[in-house]
Parts: sequence; C-alpha cells; structure tokens
Amino acid sequence: MDEKFHLKWEKSNQAMKEAGTWKTLRYLEGPMDSRSPMEGSGEVVVLSSNNYLGLSNHPDVVAASHAGLDRYGAGTASVRFICGSFGIHRELEEELARMNRTEAALSYVSCWTANTGAIPLLADKGDVIVSDELNHASIIDGIRMSKAARKIYKHSDMADLEAKLKEAREIQAADGSILLITDGVFSMEGDLAPLPDIVALARKYKAAVMVDDSHAAGVVGANGRGTPEHFGLEGEIDVMSGTLGKALGGAAGGYIASSRGVVDALTQASRPQIFSNALPASVAAGALEALRLLRTDLSLLTRLRENTTYLREGLKALGFRPLEGESAIIPIIVGATSFAIDMSARLLARGVFVTGFGFPVVPEGTARIRVQASAALSREDMDRALEAFGDVGRELGIL
Ligand SMILES: Cc1ncc(COP(=O)(O)O)c(C=O)c1O
Repeated sequence: MDEKFHLKWEKSNQAMKEAGTWKTLRYLEGPMDSRSPMEGSGEVVVLSSNNYLGLSNHPDVVAASHAGLDRYGAGTASVRFICGSFGIHRELEEELARMNRTEAALSYVSCWTANTGAIPLLADKGDVIVSDELNHASIIDGIRMSKAARKIYKHSDMADLEAKLKEAREIQAADGSILLITDGVFSMEGDLAPLPDIVALARKYKAAVMVDDSHAAGVVGANGRGTPEHFGLEGEIDVMSGTLGKALGGAAGGYIASSRGVVDALTQASRPQIFSNALPASVAAGALEALRLLRTDLSLLTRLRENTTYLREGLKALGFRPLEGESAIIPIIVGATSFAIDMSARLLARGVFVTGFGFPVVPEGTARIRVQASAALSREDMDRALEAFGDVGRELGIL
C-alpha cells in the first residue's frame, strides 16, 4: 500500500468536511416514491428525485421489469454486436424513436454513456462543437473526448451563440461540420433552451443541432415528448439524447434518437456500444413500459403539472423566490454551498428530503436547494413539505 497516496485523499476529504461541503449519502430502505423510508430518518417526503411521473415504483413498470428479468435473465454478458442484443432492446429503441419522432434510436446504459459515446464520434477533427456553458457534465466530458474544435456560448444567449457560430464557420475544415449542443431543460436552473431561436441560427450557419432532453422527456410538451414537442419542432432536431433514469421509469439507461444513418454509425463505432455491455433486459423492459404508459395515459403528466404549480406557488407564498421556469425543477438560490447543505439537513430533520447543490455542481456563490415535483406526490405530502420549508426558512433567517 502506498500510504502517502491514500493520505492525500483523506486530507482532501477532511478539508471538504471542515468547509461544510461534504455530501452525505442517504440510504433508502425501500423504493423511490413520494414518501420513502430512509435509514436513520424514517419515512421522508421526497422532493429530490427525478421520478417526475412517479413511475419508479409504478406497479406496471415494476411488473414489466420482473417479466424482463424472468424472460431474459440477469443480463447480456456481452456487448451488443457480439451477442448482447435482446429483442427487448429493439422494442425499446422503436418506442424511443416513436417518442422522439426520429427514424431510429439506440439505447445506452445511461445518458452519460450516450453523450460521452456519441459526441466524440459525431464531431471529430475538422468539425466544431458549439455548446451552451451550462450544458450537463456528460456533454462537457463528451466534448473533452472529441477531437473537434469547441466554442462555448453564454447560457441561452442568442447573440453570443450567433457570434460563436460565425467563429465556428471560419475554423471548420472544408469538409467539416458544426454540431450545436444544448440541454433541453437545464438541470440546475430548470429553464428551457430557446429551441426555436437555436434552430433558426443553426439553419443560418448550417449547423446540426443536438438536444439532451433528459429532464424534459416525459415532462415537457403536451404529450411529454420533450422540448421539441413543446416548441413545435418535432422531427427538426438532428440528434436527441436523453435518459431513462428520470421520468421514463427511473431505473437507468439512456438513448440517442436520430436519423437511421447516425444511429447505424453509432451502432458500428460508438465506443460504449462496441466495448461495453448492453442495457440489462429488466431495465429495458421497465423503461419500455414507462414509455407505453406515457403514450397511452396523460393523467400522470397532468398530475405532475398540477403538483409543480402547487409547490412553486406554495414556496412563493411562504416568501421564497424560486427561479422561474416551465419544467418540474424549482431551484431556490441560497448562496454558499455550506448554507445549502445545512438547509437540506434541517429539512431532512423535519422529514423532507431535498438536496442542496453547491460547488462544483453549480458556480460558487450560487448554491441552491433544488425542489423537484413528482406526479406521485399527494397534497398532504406537499403541505407537509411546505410547512417544513416555512419553519426552516424562518429558522435560518431567509424568510
Ligand atoms: C441533462 C442531463 N444529461 C445527462 C444526464 C445523465 O443521465 P444518466 O443518469 O442517464 O447518466 C443527466 C442526469 O443528471 C442530465 O441531467
């Protein structure tokens, strides 16, 4: 054992603890739901998960996952092209293509893997990536792995985007292309990317558009088909990516949905596709059921919208000033990371599980409590949570 090596990490951990920025893992003893049993805290109201439609413990999704497990066993024990493709993968991908209004789709074990697997292939040497500064970390890492040049524009700033697209045109190779990447819903702000303007600029500067709709799929749009549906741009986005680990079942998994040409190219050469195992069949089966539920029953989406409004208005009535937005994410900026972590601990002591986010997830000084609505929440759950928010806000002197 190299003691010096391990000591270095212990010291770094200790420094985080002293700064009040240490993140404590909370262990649930039962399923993710509107109320979940938490080790050491008893039953807590969950306002912190991405379980937007309440499907992570939905009986049909759980039953479908069981059926997938029974039919296909524990996993593929292989990558897709060797012998790791089950029929359920194709069914899931057809349903994902249908939801995204694209020719084809390809599943990955997570959206992290989808973004980091697809971006380096879709934008290579001679190409230019143009990316929003607040894009998700998986997009940032995908860009880091790419050999393309990169231009980062200020968050949803269309004048800056245009300037960066002009620069991109100047440096792209003669046969190079421009890939403009944005989150559909920004996970820490809860705001929607201005897709109509983005698409118009992309057309003007001949760029392809990639949208990561992880927080929008199953949440945004009249039928939950995400930001393209919301803005009337279905079929107009070159590449969609998203997760199955949030509204769409909540287990795990991600996807790229695009033209047949792009999906075939990723199947052939995207590194996670050819060097890593496929999505477990039980997870694929659960996600497929979640997608079918979304397509056939809009009541969960309606409930999610009602609950989002109830929580947002309730927080405002208490005196909080959450960031405005049309998604199910309701962030309350509190300043210092340690303050956000302390506030979250106080809420937990009152039976409400809501995480405080600070540096490095968000810039220093903009730490926040991120409230997330779910269709699973009852009025009673939300009232209990709002009461706790009022108590803690007064206790900390911010109300
Ligand atoms: C915008 C965005 N993209 C990608 C991911 C990663 O998704 P997954 O958990 O499937 O890797 C997330 C999750 O936080 C996200 O918010």
